[in-house]
Amino acid sequence: MTVSQVREKFLAFFKEKGHAILPSASLLPENDPTVLFTTAGMHPLVPYLMGETHPAGTRLADAQKCLRTDDIEEVGDNRHLTFFEMLGNWSLGDYFKQETITWSFEFLTDARWLNVDPSRLFVTVFEGDADAPKDIESMGIWQALFATRGIAAEEGVAGKDEPGVSRVYAYPKKKNWWGPAGQTGPCGPDTEIFFDTGRPHDPAFGEVCHPNCDCGRFVEIWNDVFMQYNKREDGSFEPLAQKNVDTGMGLERMAAMLQGVPTVFDTEVFQTMFAKIAALSGKVYGQDVATDRSFRIIADHIRAATFVIGDLRGVAPSNVGQGYIVRRLLRRAIREGRRLGIQAAFTPDVARVVIGEFGTHYAELIANQEKIVEEMKKEEEKFGKTLEKGMRELEKMAAGGSVTGEQAFTLFSTYGFPWELTEELLRERGMAVDRAVFEQEFKKHQELSRTASAGTFKGGLADHSEETTRLHTATHLLHQALRAVLGDHVGQKGSNITAERLRFDFSHPEKMTPEQLAEVERMVNDVIARDLPVYFEELSTEEAKARGAIGFFDDKYAQLGGKIKVYFVGNDEKGYFSKEICGGPHVRTTGELGGFTIQKEEAVSAGVRRIKATVGKNTG
Ligand code: ALA
Repeated sequence: MTVSQVREKFLAFFKEKGHAILPSASLLPENDPTVLFTTAGMHPLVPYLMGETHPAGTRLADAQKCLRTDDIEEVGDNRHLTFFEMLGNWSLGDYFKQETITWSFEFLTDARWLNVDPSRLFVTVFEGDADAPKDIESMGIWQALFATRGIAAEEGVAGKDEPGVSRVYAYPKKKNWWGPAGQTGPCGPDTEIFFDTGRPHDPAFGEVCHPNCDCGRFVEIWNDVFMQYNKREDGSFEPLAQKNVDTGMGLERMAAMLQGVPTVFDTEVFQTMFAKIAALSGKVYGQDVATDRSFRIIADHIRAATFVIGDLRGVAPSNVGQGYIVRRLLRRAIREGRRLGIQAAFTPDVARVVIGEFGTHYAELIANQEKIVEEMKKEEEKFGKTLEKGMRELEKMAAGGSVTGEQAFTLFSTYGFPWELTEELLRERGMAVDRAVFEQEFKKHQELSRTASAGTFKGGLADHSEETTRLHTATHLLHQALRAVLGDHVGQKGSNITAERLRFDFSHPEKMTPEQLAEVERMVNDVIARDLPVYFEELSTEEAKARGAIGFFDDKYAQLGGKIKVYFVGNDEKGYFSKEICGGPHVRTTGELGGFTIQKEEAVSAGVRRIKATVGKNTG
């Protein structure tokens, strides 16, 4: 079964079970200052898990594009990926444990679906502690399901009872609890499903194997989270009025298990990319460790970069934020390409393979094909120049007879010249360079940049704190005021909100005059002073258009059963100020905002301007 087939089956299964199938949200989260990329299927759904109404209903499922770069240095081993797809189904106050677990079991084991032998499945549940009781309900559901297939599913004690007759294991919070995403919020026990690869247990990891043993025999394939608690500020847990379900299955890993191959890199998707890399390099995958590592890094990184550049809100390589991650991914791939002996530009060739493999499901890749190829070409040229410059510097340093660790670090930090290359080139000249010193410098530098970016990487998902909600409403007011002052050609090109300020990118051909800026500011402050109501209605695309709503009328919304959420500022009595398609959340009345101040207006690119603005807290 191919990766695409697993994806399509998953979506078809949950459609049959009454779920709305959502298109993947963007890889680049909007209005979320805490993360650069979408990292889990539930991430774009946080507002709905917190209680917002979802226009598509209470049963949702999708395949979500995700990107995790925390362990980018580990890509190349045989487990880690940066980009991956997460399959998930959600219940927003609809079904709970019984249906969730029954459907997970049915999808995995039924002959119509994945047809996995149920005796290869092992499951875990939460063992209970002072905050919440042991999840005997989930355990009971599992045992009854295994019984229908004549399989013993006794509770086993991890590390004591051999997996087999023992099939359900209970673990503490560390393993079987998910969330909250931030300090507080929805969370709860989860039940995880493991696949038995049949590999022999490695006693180095303990005498008796168990689902969470790290020896590699068991692979986690699906996590069903039961969000039934709210974690409070004081650390206590209160039962939630609306109980939600959030599940996540790593598509690549599931496909690998179904294909009976040992790693995600052995699935057909990666094999297609490897074939291309082999043709370009003349090297073969599967013959030596170092070569394989290069193949994996190239395939993973170019796939990730293709998806980021080709996203609906795609970004090009640059030196900041998301663009910097794309740059790092591409440069790391190029470096590995050089290591394999590929001299010519090759990243666009591999990207074309990715587009071929994924374009059917992710149409944005086809729509943005030219852009993806162009950006990669440019980046490869730029990096080529960087390498040349670095090489010249290195020659100069080497002419002195030796190169110190500090100098190697300067090459890296100033010219982006990779350590491995410095070492390699010097070795060819019979010279050594002190790696310990280089690493010391590197660590110092890392600490500095970590401190500098701590604001961005506070971690976790966006909490919809009051500040960001106020700024979000202010963004709608700004958008409408800009259209009123500049004209209807103004459209949103991007939005980013931190706890301190809003940033709004919009289409407009020239610099705004001081008068225009003052007028926009005055108009927004006037709406705030009038204390207009803010609320939403769920409308069909046609109704929304007929009523003059602005915003993205894209496929994403059209596919949500024709229903979209439109936020209104104002009403019949007070007059409408703005009508805009949006998921929320927003304040209840504009009076909750304090004074609105534009801090900066600048160019982003040809035809796109950017405004940064703040809003005070209305304490009155
Ligand atoms: N949100 C859960 C996870 O990412 C399903 O594992």
